[in-house]
Amino acid sequence: MFKRVPGTKDILPDEISWWQKIEETSRNIFSLYNYKEVRPPLIEDAALFNRSLGEFTEIVQKQMFLIKNGPDTYVLRPEGTASIVRAYIENNLDKTANFLKLYYIGPMFRLERPQKGRLRQFYHIGSEAIGSREADLDVEVISLADRLLKSYAVKNYQIKINSLGCLKDKKELTRALHKGLKEKIKFLCEDCKNRYQHNILRILDCKNESCRKVVAGLRIEDGHLCPECKRHFTKVKEGLSVLKIDYETRPDLVRGLDYYTRTVFEITHKDLGSQDALGAGGRYDNLVRDLGGPEVGAIGFALGMERLHLVHSSEFIVHSQNLVYIITLGEEAKKRGLLLLDNLRKADIASDTDYETKSLKGAMRKADNLSARFVIIMGEDELKKNVVTLKDMESGIQEEIQLHGLIENIKKRI
Ligand code: HAM
Repeated sequence: MFKRVPGTKDILPDEISWWQKIEETSRNIFSLYNYKEVRPPLIEDAALFNRSLGEFTEIVQKQMFLIKNGPDTYVLRPEGTASIVRAYIENNLDKTANFLKLYYIGPMFRLERPQKGRLRQFYHIGSEAIGSREADLDVEVISLADRLLKSYAVKNYQIKINSLGCLKDKKELTRALHKGLKEKIKFLCEDCKNRYQHNILRILDCKNESCRKVVAGLRIEDGHLCPECKRHFTKVKEGLSVLKIDYETRPDLVRGLDYYTRTVFEITHKDLGSQDALGAGGRYDNLVRDLGGPEVGAIGFALGMERLHLVHSSEFIVHSQNLVYIITLGEEAKKRGLLLLDNLRKADIASDTDYETKSLKGAMRKADNLSARFVIIMGEDELKKNVVTLKDMESGIQEEIQLHGLIENIKKRI
């Protein structure tokens, strides 16, 4: 018996309608905001992520699914942003449009320790808007994430925002943290002791109780922000208020990836437990240039689909399709049934039959299991009269219907 790799999931037919509806809803919302879909490959050059996420980030240090191929090292993409920026530069997309709004839906891979809401293969619904540094774009992107969550009928989520400032400001914050934490290293967890050396910002969002206490004592505010970054952040907050988007400013929100500058945000849900982020994002104004592209600003986010599923609401109604199920009794009926099945499908009516009908009772049970909306029973006697029996599975009403005009008749009822 083979088993799934730990931290992966089979999405089975029972659940698939939810996934398809979420994808369809997302595509509609992205279209409303004029975002276009991109589908980059799932495998990339590992160095792309070392360079963009940062050598000392958790993902690069511990979570990359690496594939050695001679002198090359590929990786199953751990996230979408670096891939999209790589595709943007490689395909000269900046030459065709100096401002591009893109979205993607697909699997990401991280070699994590699996737990509730933390998988090794998980799906992102993400967007990247490349080509502007304007604060209004930050507002659009955060409001787009909010609109997506509303359209999935997710309730009680919180949007937390912060500004890391430009590169200079980030360095300033790093310096201040080194100074502030110097005497307190001994109170930090082992991970944070390491982070003190290489990735000090991450200490701010460590979940460990004693690290949280140390961080609370630091009283981090926005002192590291230069006047321009301060103005930018004020504009973002004003814009969100104009659009009546509920948010909370959290000076300790830093995000785990090196490419972020200025606005960062996270959307959390308390029902998720320790892995409480439904989604997250932020600006990365230097990444396009750092990867060899033009000097343009960009911002994006990604929502985790498995976590959305964990908090899904019954108000997000996933309609099952109206299936018509044909039951034939006897050889002649079977032949006519096949033709009817073909004609129903040509008329865009979802339909199926039981190729192995042994008894009417057994076939009705199968129709029930498939949640068929209508059942057509074709028996020899009925066919002699050119009629079929049509059973409405919702009301239970059963009636004889003329074969002639049957498809139009069903169409009117669906
Ligand atoms: P991230 O915070 O690493 O950001 O991931 C975004 C979301 O993906 C998380 O908030 C969470 O919902 C989900 N997620 C992450 N890891 C896992 C996991 N192991 N299992 C299940 N769900 C997970 C990024 O990846 C950035 N690329 C987002 C972004 C786009 N920033 C700018 N543009």
